[in-house]
Amino acid sequence: MSTRPDPVPCRPQDLGKFEILQRDGSARIGRLHTKHGMLNTPMLLPVVNPNIRTIEPREMWDKYRVDGLITNSYVMWKHNDLSEYALEHGVHKLIDFPGVVVTDSGTFQSYVYGDVEVGVEEIVEFQRDIGVDVGTMLDVFGRPDMSRDQIISAVDITAERAPISLEKAGEGLLLNGPIQGGLHDDLRALAGQVMGDVSGVHRGFTVHPIGGIVPLMENQKYRELFQILLSAKSTLPPNRPIHLFGCGHPLLFPMSIALGVDIFDSAAYALFARGGRLLTPTGTVRLEEIQEWPHQSSELFNWTPEEVRGMESKEREKVLARHNLEVTQSELARCREAIRNGKIWQLAEERSHSSGQLREAFLWVLEQLDEPDDGPVGVSAMRMISSTNPVRSGGENLVDDIEERPHILHFKSLLSMRWRIPGSWWDGSSGPPKRVVIIEGSKPPWRDSSLHTVISSLKEEPNSIVVISTPIGLIPYSMEDVSPWCHIDGSDEIWDLPLDEDEIVEELDELDLSDLPFIRISPGPVPEEKIEGSQIIRDWLDKCSIVDKLSVLNGLSPTYGCKITSDMTSRRSKTDRMVNLYSKGVHVISPRLNDGGISLTLEGARLLHSYSSKPPLSFGEEYSGEELDHPGIARVMIIDDAIPFVGQGRNVMQGYVLGADPHLIPGQPCLVVDSKGNLVAHGLAITTAREMAYLNKGLAVRIRDGALKDSDI
Ligand code: GUN
Repeated sequence: MSTRPDPVPCRPQDLGKFEILQRDGSARIGRLHTKHGMLNTPMLLPVVNPNIRTIEPREMWDKYRVDGLITNSYVMWKHNDLSEYALEHGVHKLIDFPGVVVTDSGTFQSYVYGDVEVGVEEIVEFQRDIGVDVGTMLDVFGRPDMSRDQIISAVDITAERAPISLEKAGEGLLLNGPIQGGLHDDLRALAGQVMGDVSGVHRGFTVHPIGGIVPLMENQKYRELFQILLSAKSTLPPNRPIHLFGCGHPLLFPMSIALGVDIFDSAAYALFARGGRLLTPTGTVRLEEIQEWPHQSSELFNWTPEEVRGMESKEREKVLARHNLEVTQSELARCREAIRNGKIWQLAEERSHSSGQLREAFLWVLEQLDEPDDGPVGVSAMRMISSTNPVRSGGENLVDDIEERPHILHFKSLLSMRWRIPGSWWDGSSGPPKRVVIIEGSKPPWRDSSLHTVISSLKEEPNSIVVISTPIGLIPYSMEDVSPWCHIDGSDEIWDLPLDEDEIVEELDELDLSDLPFIRISPGPVPEEKIEGSQIIRDWLDKCSIVDKLSVLNGLSPTYGCKITSDMTSRRSKTDRMVNLYSKGVHVISPRLNDGGISLTLEGARLLHSYSSKPPLSFGEEYSGEELDHPGIARVMIIDDAIPFVGQGRNVMQGYVLGADPHLIPGQPCLVVDSKGNLVAHGLAITTAREMAYLNKGLAVRIRDGALKDSDI
């Protein structure tokens, strides 16, 4: 077996920093920097008992590419031989692991066995002195069956112990600040707030584990688990990884990650192996009950179930533990890849069908997304929707839950809030619309299958609003190439399922069109001949598409959109799609062909910038004006020092951002401005405005072009 090189220590100034590399709603691919390399999140810290090593930590590092593990400092502290060795040689040597060593503090032992003898300061000092990377303060375990008063006391005592624990950790030891609060949303949110706020002598907490949840997982109370997670996340700083203490079944990974968990830890791989059980991404299987492996791994390929059953118990345990760790690692890789591809929610949805309790919990989450309440859970649900890029490339299968996916909900809510009827019609007239034409029974791309019907309907009555009936609701024709609406996968029949009248009225109401008469048309075969005079209608439709996308996706007022498109010309691709859009002869916009969004050129950014007013508020400043449906294209305001670099086209790094418009959407275009509001560059936002307020490592905006390239700054 080839050995994996030892990790590279972080730069001293990066110690404890967390950066977000990519995201899909609340799910994020991140990196936590430590002296023993990086934790590439979402990840699992396997629990290692220093006395019983089912799989050697060195093997975990070399073979299973485990970046970090968790062990118990209290167990070491109690055993003289272990503590003496660790104090002399360090914890990494004791367990023979070169990567990140995280330790727990004895709190869990106090939950299982009653009290622990170790002191609050003593256990942190011990973790510091044995060279742990991320230690844990001694928190008070809040059991779900405790009274509210007892839980309040668990939260309070944990918070009281926080400052001294951070002080004793010194410069080098990063600390976990656990969030207790039992089943109470408000107490979880309170704990998130107070633990997140402790500044510490050297630094605040580096990671926030959600504690007190093991009894819920033992009883498969997943709804409560997700409720706790969403409540705690409502107040926790977004620049710190969230750890689910004691959660490590692969079944729970996709959903937990979709809701924002970065780190898991668990002894499940070893405990289940001891009990003769195999982990799979969809549940647990008993070795006793199988003739063939239901889920393969490189370890199990060596054996049949019969052969493993015949092994001596220690050997059997090792085989099963290796398999369990392998499944755990590969399911986490699958989740990370799903985040990169914008598919974490789909994965969570698929996995929800694997267990009744998980399905119930998943459906509960959908309800929270559909109708966010005004408590902490609602805050997190709203953030999840608004941080999800509403458009994405690639197809999506039509399944029951598709309409509640966060990106679909986001797009629908943006449509409902920002889409407006055209200010004027193709024949140059203005005035109110006279009817809605619903195109149904036709397949995408609608510009091929239905344009002739759209044009003849508009010819017949210029004041018509044309909408398309899709399996996930009505969309204006101007959005016909927005993905995934134009890219739903399923049998041909899915395009021939007309909505009933009530559904139509409900959907039209969302677009504020329910007062208009509507007609429903199924486009017939495409005629060979072009309809006479159709070019003028097509040009008008192109303009509507740009105005609507700029307004719905980028918040630009349709009045400005109309200005941009009033003298617009375009260049079309071989497949007759608009590729470049010119305003007064200048190339300003390129429609994004892969997802239906908008891509700006530098001139386009300058044009949109000319419509924006004062610079964004600095972080921490309160906005006192009214909420606007069309606040203009989102802007990120950077510090003076960064201007020469960003102005030349370098990316905006976290930590150099002074303020950002709250409606900034990761993955969508934004402008970068200086503190006076002057344009510096334009690009794509990587994180939300709230994250930019907290993060100080990693990319904030991927710059497409600097606006100061020719200036002499
Ligand atoms: N391990 C599992 N749950 C907990 C918890 O609530 N606190 C600590 N410190 N460790 C845990």
